[in-house]
Amino acid sequence: MRVLLLGSGGREHAIAAALAADPAVTDLICAPGNPGTAAIAVNAEVDPLDPDAVAGLAVERAVDLVVVGPEAPLVAGVADAVRGKGIACFGPSKAAAQLEGSKAFAKDVMRAAGVPTARSFVCTSADELAAALDTFGPPYVVKDDGLAAGKGVVVTGSRDEALAHGAGCERVVVEEYLAGPEVSLFVVTDGTAAVPLQPAQDFKRIGDGDTGPNTGGMGAYSPLPWAPADLVEEVMASVVQPTLAQMRDRGTPFAGVLYVGLALTAQGPKVIEFNCRFGDPETQVVLARLETPLAGVLHAAAVGRLAEDPPLAWRPGSAVCVVMASAGYPESARKGDVITGADGVPGVIHAGTARRADGALLTAGGRVLTCTATGDTLADARAAAYRLVDAITFDGAQHRTDIALAAEKGAVTVP
Ligand code: AMP
Ligand code: GLY
Repeated sequence: MRVLLLGSGGREHAIAAALAADPAVTDLICAPGNPGTAAIAVNAEVDPLDPDAVAGLAVERAVDLVVVGPEAPLVAGVADAVRGKGIACFGPSKAAAQLEGSKAFAKDVMRAAGVPTARSFVCTSADELAAALDTFGPPYVVKDDGLAAGKGVVVTGSRDEALAHGAGCERVVVEEYLAGPEVSLFVVTDGTAAVPLQPAQDFKRIGDGDTGPNTGGMGAYSPLPWAPADLVEEVMASVVQPTLAQMRDRGTPFAGVLYVGLALTAQGPKVIEFNCRFGDPETQVVLARLETPLAGVLHAAAVGRLAEDPPLAWRPGSAVCVVMASAGYPESARKGDVITGADGVPGVIHAGTARRADGALLTAGGRVLTCTATGDTLADARAAAYRLVDAITFDGAQHRTDIALAAEKGAVTVP
């Protein structure tokens, strides 16, 4: 199988590693890829947001499958363009990608499907915003309606900050605050059949103890030792199946990976968000333990034959990843700092890196690297991930020191 993987982040390096390890994959092309994917695949230039350019590259390279990593190309219609050329594509259509592309659309689908989620208002004026904030009271949750790379959401006790965030957006969703530990569940689907991967937990805030602004995600671990045994089954029944049915009923079936972001509240699991692609950095830990060859699963989903596949197999143990971010992240991202200790180290997944002409590895984005490790226990995996972090240096490097710490201590509880 010849596979073209679209994207250039840590998620894509992790997906590329899983695809490269699949014996069915004879050729792997990453576009645009990064220095990490360059070591295990062929990188190709393309504008991932240009559907015709991506479809053209897929034809030119005679690939059997295109896997789309990030959300923006999906929202731009890349999957439709690739399928239009008769090539299998793992990723939802432009219409179905609205589940992530518009928070208001996602809320509408959830309401129609009876999916448990936070109560919410869509606001397009300052007065509506103020009224919505006062309906729910603090802590306030204000979300930019459109794509914002995980940074369009403000959760704050300050009414002024909530108002200010909303004032900068054309359309916002104001939600009731959901209290409880968060879970990321990825479900591979062909639109009808749906296969859950193992759940993970992400750490969204930049600082230890969940302080500071939201980021794209600063670390993750999987599986979740504290999660109720029937969690995945319950979410498949209460969230995933009704959502997929609703999307089919609307004539826009969702095929690809449905990322269900949940809060496990006192009233049960409720959806915080849907994404239309794998999560970053959760993918790094989830795929680290997936034993089933990945390309076969993604191809089956892309061609509507997922129901024929055997159940997924998982390696025992745990996986933990810790993101190393550049100076200034998440407000900005300083580029060009020289990275040492990362090249060729197993478990070091590239995200925002670049190769200088002399071969030096440089920072080139907000999230620079994901140090990913597995272990027999969560404590082993955590220690191994932090050993990778400790061996890497670059000016201004930031990382959280408490990824998976509460879970290791048995201190995560579901209300
Ligand atoms: P989102 O982009 O919707 O995932 O939001 C980013 C982060 O903000 C989530 O991972 C949560 O940590 C937090 N968040 C979003 N919505 C809520 C909510 N209704 N209640 C509590 N926290 C939330
Ligand atoms: N880690 C959160 C996300 O991928 O949206």
